[in-house]
Amino acid sequence: MFYGGLPNPMQSGKFITFEGGDGAGKSTQIERLSLALEEAGLLVSVTREPGGSPAAETIRSMLLDPDAIWDPSTEALLHFAARADHYTTRIAPSLRNGHWVLSDRFADSTRAYQGYGLGLDMTAIETLYEIALGDFAPDLTIILDIPVEKGVARILERAEVSDRYEKMDPTFHERLRQGFLEIANKEPDRCKVIYADNDIDTVTSEIFDCVENRLGLILQR
Ligand code: TMP
Repeated sequence: MFYGGLPNPMQSGKFITFEGGDGAGKSTQIERLSLALEEAGLLVSVTREPGGSPAAETIRSMLLDPDAIWDPSTEALLHFAARADHYTTRIAPSLRNGHWVLSDRFADSTRAYQGYGLGLDMTAIETLYEIALGDFAPDLTIILDIPVEKGVARILERAEVSDRYEKMDPTFHERLRQGFLEIANKEPDRCKVIYADNDIDTVTSEIFDCVENRLGLILQR
C-alpha cells in the first residue's frame, strides 16, 4: 500500500527498555519477551547498553575496564557518547524498519548509576540526554526491582564479577534501587516496576501482561 510519502504506520516498531540493579534477571526476561514477540509475528532486535553498536561497544570496554578510574561526569559523558552512536546507527534505523527493539539498559541507567548512585547533578544528566537523544524516549520501560542483598547474591553466583559497577558497596546499590523507583514514580506512563524476586515464570507473566496492556498485543504463553 502507498502512504503518500508518510512513513508506513505498520512499519514503525516500538522501543522497550529493561532496567534495574545488577542481578535482577534482565537478560532471561529479555530473551523470553523477544521470543514471544517473534512468535507474534514481529521483527525483533535485541541490544544492550553500554554498547549495542561497534563504536559503543568500544566505549563499553573502556567504561567496564576494572582498572579505569573515571569521575562521574566523564563517566556520564562516555555513556551518552555511546548512547548517541547506538541510537543513531542502530536503534533509530531498526525502529524505522519496523523492528521492536529491546534494550538491556538505556538512559535510566545513567540517571540511576551516575545520578542517584554517584551523585552527579540530575540537570546535567538531562542536558546530556537532550543533546544525545532530543525528545526520543522508550515506549515502555520495565524496571526489574529486587532487594539489594538478593541482587548481590545473584551476581556472586555468576563467574564473572569483574566489572567495576558490580563491585560497588551495598549502600551504592540501595541508592540505585531507590533511584529506579523514583524514576518510575516520576514517569508512570512510560515505566512499570516489576518485583523480580519471584520465580522466573511469575516475573515473565507480569512482563507479558504489561506489554499486552500498554502496547496492545496478545502474546503466546
Ligand atoms: P550490564 O552489566 O547490565 O551489561 O551493565 C554494565 C554496567 O554498566 C552495569 O553495572 C550498569 C552500568 N551502567 C551505568 O553505570 N550507566 C549507564 O548508563 C549504563 C547503561 C550502565
